[in-house]
Amino acid sequence: MLRSASEWNSAWCGRPRNGGRLSMPYQRPFRSRTAILRSSGLTRLSPKALKTSPENLVGKTCYEVSHGSTEPVSGCPHVQTLKKGVPAEVEIHNAEMGTYTIVSTYPMFSPSGEVVASVHISQDITERKRMQEKLMVTDRLASVGELAAGIAHEINNPLTGVLGFSELVPSSDIPVAIRQDVETIHSEAQRAVDVVKNLLVFARRHNQSRQELSVNEVIDKVLALRAYEQKINNIVVVTDFAEDLPAITADYFQLQQVFLNIVINAEFFMSRAHGRGKLLISIRLVEEASAIRITFVDDVPGIAIDTLPRLFDPFFTTKDVGQGTGLGLSISHGIVQAHGGRIWAECEPGKGAAFFIELPLSTPSSSEVQYVVR
Ligand SMILES: Nc1ncnc2c1ncn2[C@@H]1O[C@H](COP(=O)(O)OP(=O)(O)O)[C@@H](O)[C@H]1O
Ligand SMILES: [Mg+2]
Repeated sequence: MLRSASEWNSAWCGRPRNGGRLSMPYQRPFRSRTAILRSSGLTRLSPKALKTSPENLVGKTCYEVSHGSTEPVSGCPHVQTLKKGVPAEVEIHNAEMGTYTIVSTYPMFSPSGEVVASVHISQDITERKRMQEKLMVTDRLASVGELAAGIAHEINNPLTGVLGFSELVPSSDIPVAIRQDVETIHSEAQRAVDVVKNLLVFARRHNQSRQELSVNEVIDKVLALRAYEQKINNIVVVTDFAEDLPAITADYFQLQQVFLNIVINAEFFMSRAHGRGKLLISIRLVEEASAIRITFVDDVPGIAIDTLPRLFDPFFTTKDVGQGTGLGLSISHGIVQAHGGRIWAECEPGKGAAFFIELPLSTPSSSEVQYVVR
């Protein structure tokens, strides 16, 4: 009893900041089922996340449970605390479970002043980390957008000259070989103009033309536009649309652009991986968010987890040169954000790439949207 009281006292009085989840003495195995369940951190971790039952935890040390190791892992804060008698802290990323945890340890002293154990407080900071990552993406997109707008305007002027003059040349009397070269100059300049146009959509403040529309209908239209390409590329689309969804106020063409890009990306990566593909598209009302969620899941486990945060960066592409500009998702991100919504991607190991878009039922009016696509 006294020992338990001392553990809890050390855990809760000694911890330096903002609350922990779990306290337990180190180097002594877990004592009972109730002791484990009493500690909310472990309750969350076990038995599902630890892939075991509470009974299996009894009698084990924390390094066996958390790391599957027979001895303390390197950098273990408990070891430091036990050695030096001072608090220690470490941030742990568990890639398999996708969690981030801060583990803090505090020394427990015997009446004669020796360190007898370490108290462990584990704090799940996964949600905080996710928010930070999202903020970083938004911030980076905002600054790149501003830069891109300036550059796009500068590039547009000389491009107009190149286009205009290359259009004039072929009509004059010149050898065929040179004419072909000039035509190439012309078509490449036109390609550059298209890239700049896309960049401006991404970067520019512009007024949108919003109307009441049905998301189901926009997606249906997108699928109709892609039907032929999908047929010849063996792409099957399975739709699961909730019925009687409320209309939303949005810019039809901008939403079409967003959905088209995601569908075309999925088609591309599925065809490239196995010459066919199955794309699932579902539309649901998310009542707690007052939003409509559109989910696209393809059948290629193609996105490496470390590239996920970069997908929405301008010019990030894993397509070959000439096949992709890397602007589609960054433009989509801007459009969805301007509608007060959010867009994100997920990729669970072994499962296909999943893209999610949430559009709010009541969108801020255009005048309330100060920035638009950045
Ligand atoms: N369905 C998908 N499967 C795998 N990777 C994808 C998928 N959709 C997008 N990506 C990744 O995101 C990158 C950026 O996409 P996007 O901005 O549309 O540009 P682009 O299509 O020109 O490459 C792609 O090059 C690819 O790496
Ligand atoms: Mg694309």
